[in-house]
Amino acid sequence: MAELTQSKKPARVTRLDGRLTPPLNSNVRRHQYMSFSAEIVVRNGERGDAAGLSKVGARLFRQTYQGKMPSIDLESYVAEDFNLEQQLAELQDPNVTTLLVEKAGEIVGYAQVRQNPIPASTGLNVAIELWRIYLERSSQGLGIGKLLLSRAGEAVRSRSEDQVWLGVWERNLGAISFYEKHGFHIAGSQKFNIGAEVHNDLVMVGSAGAF
Ligand SMILES: CC(C)(COP(=O)(O)OP(=O)(O)OC[C@H]1O[C@@H](n2cnc3c(N)ncnc32)[C@H](O)[C@@H]1OP(=O)(O)O)[C@@H](O)C(=O)NCCC(=O)NCCS
Repeated sequence: MAELTQSKKPARVTRLDGRLTPPLNSNVRRHQYMSFSAEIVVRNGERGDAAGLSKVGARLFRQTYQGKMPSIDLESYVAEDFNLEQQLAELQDPNVTTLLVEKAGEIVGYAQVRQNPIPASTGLNVAIELWRIYLERSSQGLGIGKLLLSRAGEAVRSRSEDQVWLGVWERNLGAISFYEKHGFHIAGSQKFNIGAEVHNDLVMVGSAGAF
């Protein structure tokens, strides 16, 4: 199986923080991003977002992992975790904070933070998990992930915590680099079932105050 890598970024575009992305050889799509930062909104998800989140969650999960695992396992996970009822339940769960990223009114990504203790095998005491963080491929590499992570950090702090943990597939090297860049370090591992496949996830811990 090929290792997971980040998708191609558009050629140089202005990131949310005002810097340009490094030059790439792909076709320039800069014009699409002219008023890029003005178009980006991060907001808390509400129960009325369940249908949108269900669709986006399924799409971004497939976009990230398709071809990296058997389709039958991926689809079984998507059917179970991203169906409408499940997303409605998550949006209404007081233990879960869902953040949606909208670009020109369309959901292009989301993150979820939840009360969930770190696996005991780490020997650590961390009560909050950065459960999911996913962006549409065309919106990656532009600083939106950083913005979303910092909003997730605020959600962690609003629960009177600073430490936050996450599980990331050991083959998702792009995401691991992203987390390391934001101060997360590896604290252990856990098994994670996707359909009939058992994956090895790295458990990482970071400080919400640092991102
Ligand atoms: C992981 C993800 C949320 C990051 O969001 P992003 O918008 O692409 O990241 P940003 O543009 O905000 O980058 C923020 C920083 O992380 C770095 N970074 C992002 N992706 C990286 C990668 N693949 N490798 C190395 N560094 C990376 C950037 O260089 C940037 O660093 P800088 O601020 O020093 O320039 C996004 O790429 C994504 O949705 N990936 C697919 C889904 C996924 O794997 N989710 C995680 C599941 S555990």
